[in-house]
Amino acid sequence: MMSTVYAIANQKGGVGKTTTAVNVAACIAEAGYATLLVDVDPQANATVGLGIERSRAPGLYEVLAGEAAARDAVTGTPVQGLRALSSCRGSPASRTACTTRWRRCATTTSTSCSTARPRSGR
Ligand SMILES: Nc1ncnc2c1ncn2[C@@H]1O[C@H](COP(=O)(O)OP(=O)(O)OP(=O)(O)O)[C@@H](O)[C@H]1O
Ligand SMILES: [Mg+2]
Repeated sequence: MMSTVYAIANQKGGVGKTTTAVNVAACIAEAGYATLLVDVDPQANATVGLGIERSRAPGLYEVLAGEAAARDAVTGTPVQGLRALSSCRGSPASRTACTTRWRRCATTTSTSCSTARPRSGR
């Protein structure tokens, strides 16, 4: 199945990344495309903005930690056609652990990170 990945990132804070991600994802879903919003920000504002508990598990943390498959961490949202992979669990310690793990996965070829890596052609 063909898919398109949009990454919304900016080093500057407060410029509308989360707002853009949530609304663009909702618009794509409402246009009839199956849509998955992956909240990679440990602040979890997109997760909470979609009405999903910040502490929901499994979420991205468990996927990055190799404790859950991404397909099992995906959840529905109030927007038809839009599903989400929620951000990290609520405590500051777990958010720090998630950020650290995400950085490691982004910069290494560790097999323990393979489940979190986008595969080519998907
Ligand atoms: N197009 C817009 N017009 C006016 N206000 C906006 C717009 N987009 C976002 N905002 C407001 O700007 C503020 C910051 O938006 P948002 O939280 O999406 O930014 P962010 O880049 O994700 O921030 P952070 O770096 O903290 O994650 C919020 O109060 C949001 O409501
Ligand atoms: Mg944000």
